[in-house]
Amino acid sequence: MLKKEVAELINRQINREFYSSYFYLDIANFYENKSLKGFANWFRVQAQEERDHALLFVDYMHNSSETVHLYAIDAPNQTFPDFKEPLLATFAHEQFVTGSINEIYAEAMKQNDFRTQQFLNWFVNEQGEEEKNTQEIIDRYDLFGYDAKSLYLLDAELAARIYAPPTLTL
Ligand code: FEO
Repeated sequence: MLKKEVAELINRQINREFYSSYFYLDIANFYENKSLKGFANWFRVQAQEERDHALLFVDYMHNSSETVHLYAIDAPNQTFPDFKEPLLATFAHEQFVTGSINEIYAEAMKQNDFRTQQFLNWFVNEQGEEEKNTQEIIDRYDLFGYDAKSLYLLDAELAARIYAPPTLTL
C-alpha cells in the first residue's frame, strides 16, 4: 500500500499521461492535415509513449495493491497558427509534466516512501530526455524550418522515428 497522498498524486498522473497522449495525437493530426507526415509520425509515436507512461503508473498502483481511478480526459482543442507553434506547446507541456513528476517525488520523499522514489527515477530521466529532444527539434526548426526544401528534409528525418516500448518494466 502507498500513503494516501502519494496514491492520489499517482492517480492524477495517470490522467495527465493519458491527456499527454491525446495532446500529442492532436498535434499529429494537425501535421497530418498539413501533409507533414514526418512530423505527424513523430507525434504519433510520442502519443504511444505517453500511453505507455500512463500504463506504467497503472501497473505500479496494482503492484502496490492500490485502486486505480480513471478520470475524464480533457479534449486538447488546440489550434496552431503555424508549424512551429506545436513544437513550442510541446516543450511547455513537457515542462509541466516534469513539474508534475517532481511533485510526486517530493511527496514520496516527505512520506519516506523510498520505493516510489526509486520507481520515479526512470520518469525523472525520461522527462530530461523529452525536454532535450523537443528543444533539439525547435532548434532545428529555427535553423531549417523556414525554407521549403529544408523543411521537406526535416520532415523526412522525423518520419524515421520508430516506436519502441519503454525500457522500464514492472
Ligand atoms: Fe509522459 Fe512526455 O511525459
